[in-house]
Amino acid sequence: MNGALFPGQVDKPILRSYQPAQSFSVHLQQITFTMRLLSLLILTLSASTVFSQINIIPQPVSITQPKGSGNFTITTSTTIVLAGGNLEKSAQYLNDYLQLFYHIKLEVTKNNPGQNTIVLNFDRMDKGKGAYGMNVDQKGVYIGGDNEEGVFYGIQTLIQLLPIPLTQNAGSTKLSIPYLSITDYPRFAYRGLMLDAGRHFFPVSFVKKFIDYLALHKMNYFHWHLTEDQGWRIEIKKYPRLTEVGAWRNGTIIGRFPGTGNDGQRYGGFYTQEDVKEIVAYAQARYVTIIPEIEMPGHGGAAIAAYPNLSCFPDRTTKSEFPSNSFWSGDTTGKKVVQSWSVYKDVFCAGKEETFTFLQDVLDEIIPLFPGPYIHVGGDECPKDHWKQCPNCQKRMKDNRISDERSLQSYFVQRMEKYINSKGKTIIGWDEILEGGLAPNAVVMSWRGEKGGIEAAKQKHQVIMTPSDYVYLDYSQLKKEDTLTIGGYIDLEKIYKYEPSPKELTAAQSKYILGAQGNVWSEYIAYPATLEYMIFPRATALSEVVWTPKVKKNWDGFQKRMQTQARRYELWNAQYCKACLTKSSTK
Ligand code: ACM
Ligand code: ZN
Repeated sequence: MNGALFPGQVDKPILRSYQPAQSFSVHLQQITFTMRLLSLLILTLSASTVFSQINIIPQPVSITQPKGSGNFTITTSTTIVLAGGNLEKSAQYLNDYLQLFYHIKLEVTKNNPGQNTIVLNFDRMDKGKGAYGMNVDQKGVYIGGDNEEGVFYGIQTLIQLLPIPLTQNAGSTKLSIPYLSITDYPRFAYRGLMLDAGRHFFPVSFVKKFIDYLALHKMNYFHWHLTEDQGWRIEIKKYPRLTEVGAWRNGTIIGRFPGTGNDGQRYGGFYTQEDVKEIVAYAQARYVTIIPEIEMPGHGGAAIAAYPNLSCFPDRTTKSEFPSNSFWSGDTTGKKVVQSWSVYKDVFCAGKEETFTFLQDVLDEIIPLFPGPYIHVGGDECPKDHWKQCPNCQKRMKDNRISDERSLQSYFVQRMEKYINSKGKTIIGWDEILEGGLAPNAVVMSWRGEKGGIEAAKQKHQVIMTPSDYVYLDYSQLKKEDTLTIGGYIDLEKIYKYEPSPKELTAAQSKYILGAQGNVWSEYIAYPATLEYMIFPRATALSEVVWTPKVKKNWDGFQKRMQTQARRYELWNAQYCKACLTKSSTK
């Protein structure tokens, strides 16, 4: 365990309106609903805390309750028994959660006293990573994971069986759990969320919290988008200007692109390598693998501002290619970090050896920081305008008999893949990497719909589904959204009903679909509170898309369970879209 659970709990800035406007009647309905909840809870607690509600998200594979059921109650004399090895971190996670939200701390021991216990153990299930079984009876709780992840997910289920105090200070709540048996394992091996730290920077404390949100939903991949035109966010010791220059911009447009003005405020931030080590350890203790993304050949504007030679045209000013209808602040000379959104033509030069040396040096520092198997190289939205005009790029094409600029991008990605593979890592790229020929071992993230993913699976490449129309969590979630968003519209039902395995694929081909991921692009998400509002409840729906067997998914059942989940958000002090949970035709 590294650092406190739920860091940033107290210092959350709430600087922007994230609460959608509500009619008085909706508000009244909510008050009535809260009153009903309150009286239900008082009744429940006073009747010697009989808590029989089981509202687990994602829905487990199987839950059974014995006839004439009873409850086991966790008290301060309950002990956590480590019956298997290497489970200390999971026990610590449970204890931290109990301490933060219920003000109790349990003894952790390797000797089983036989009763009043929470036993953590291993049981072979042959259902892959993350599988676990759980039993609650008069002796206590037994969690048998097929592997370490499984035990951790069993603990997540246990956490969801606890009664939810109405405030974080309800330490006297009696922790009764109904007798039951659960067998559970994930449908997909890849269950992810992406955070764009490039457009806006999120502090270390919030990145850790984001990782907790993944873990609490039994999700296991955190895709960390670290470099952009609008900011380079990771310390690279060999190239200090990346963070001295590339992590800062002289202003940000106001409102939706092209904006109504520029705020004129210097903005930025970056993660030191020490920050990254701390975050990686925090994620490891939660069985979350981090995938760093270093964008190439496009979206490299901040690196070019720091090292102009990486551009095909080092002497062209950034301002001269800045959209004429958008807003600029400060110095207009030379290369600058851009202050507006959209896609930029100033990309890494594919003709100069210097570009490849730079990117390889960067990766030489990135790779040792991240123990996971993947490096994401971006590959999306790379305009070819400069390459068409650049003598170096044209020479590269001629020398290598490359017929067009799309194939030059393929040369670029394949060359970087070879380097990354030589360091023992696999590349992931956005679906544009299919154009001009796929790098031999690349994993494809399909974002422009599912077409790229289907094509890649047919070519026997692994695929992660992130189609923008279903899982882009920066899109509006209400028809009348008063939070500024990029636009679009994906409501809770749409994301809940998303099916990551396309019907166009045969059973053999669909084995290449590793899973799915929600993407949180941050052009219009400047603060942690706004980000929470945008991801909840949709990320919770996505967790069921990637975990729960297709036949067990049920929209009505999910909506009922969401009422309990909303109380968990409140327990965590997380923002969420309340109006998304009401059945109003005005949504
Ligand atoms: C993307 O949304 N440009 C991957
Ligand atoms: Zn060039």
